[in-house]
Amino acid sequence: MNGTINSPFRYAGGKFYARKLILAHVPRHTDYIEPFAGGGSIFFAKPKVDFNQLNDIDRELVNVYLTIRDNPDELIYFLKRQLVKHTRIPEKYTEKVLYGDPLPATKELHGFFKNEYKPKNDLERAGRWFYLNRTSYSGIMNNQNMYWGYGDKYSMQPKNWAQNIIRTSEKLQGVEITNLDFENIIDNAPDGALLFLDPPYYNADQDKFYQHYFSKQDHFRLAECLRRNNDRLKLFITYDNTPDIRELYNWMSEMHDKEWNYCIQRTDDQRNGTDKKGERYKGKELFILNYTAEQVSIDEPELTFAS
Ligand SMILES: C[S@@+](CC[C@H](N)C(=O)[O-])C[C@H]1O[C@@H](n2cnc3c(N)ncnc32)[C@H](O)[C@@H]1O
Repeated sequence: MNGTINSPFRYAGGKFYARKLILAHVPRHTDYIEPFAGGGSIFFAKPKVDFNQLNDIDRELVNVYLTIRDNPDELIYFLKRQLVKHTRIPEKYTEKVLYGDPLPATKELHGFFKNEYKPKNDLERAGRWFYLNRTSYSGIMNNQNMYWGYGDKYSMQPKNWAQNIIRTSEKLQGVEITNLDFENIIDNAPDGALLFLDPPYYNADQDKFYQHYFSKQDHFRLAECLRRNNDRLKLFITYDNTPDIRELYNWMSEMHDKEWNYCIQRTDDQRNGTDKKGERYKGKELFILNYTAEQVSIDEPELTFAS
């Protein structure tokens, strides 16, 4: 499968809502790498090329990518079996559930996976992560800030998880998936490759969202690393729009201020008695390119996004 699909994960800082804007700045390329893959929204939103690589330092996230790529059926079976074991489903329905009938996303089960369940192998770790990611508010996977955040109306329902895993697995076939620090990935990228870089924000409470903290020193280390590879790679960076970042990247060809709208749905737990269901936000970031946007020609078929 080479088509365009949605990211299988909910991911804090994910570029899902900006994907069309981002794709409009993507130049022609044959090798594509995301050193900070996270939910990989851009990889999933564009057609695959000759060489594709997703990298992230988060070991648990990478384990789920690898499991979906290599063992999708086992993951689907795990999710169903755990749900059957831990929800009070009368035995006569058990077989039905195992063979594909709708399955529940419940607060009780979210709590179970978050606090009690102790995975014993990679498959179980992936199953736990997948369940929590699909049912937590904004897909935030940091234990202290992980809350039940599923709603039938606005979340992907469990009955669609299997199909999502299969579609994702098809797209991940042949994709290189790595769990390394960004410097290793950038320095070893093949000449001419396009790197889409979405590092943790410069000014943000990122320790709330991610398992891996990015220090000020890491931001400087990234800029240094990109600078020494500038002549041989195509670079597209998205960052928060701050004077420090503008300064740090003043040697790049182009810098564009970009805005987009998005909405975050809240469950009853997070609304604290307010009536607001969906809150509107504005994404404001910098797109930093080491090529000129004029060179960008998208002669690919019209992109469509299945939900
Ligand atoms: C903003 S997120 C990426 C969001 C993603 N583009 C999306 O659309 O969902 C940043 C990612 O960088 C990863 N990260 C943090 N430090 C890293 C490092 N030193 N090397 C590689 N990845 C790192 C985090 O684990 C996180 O997944």
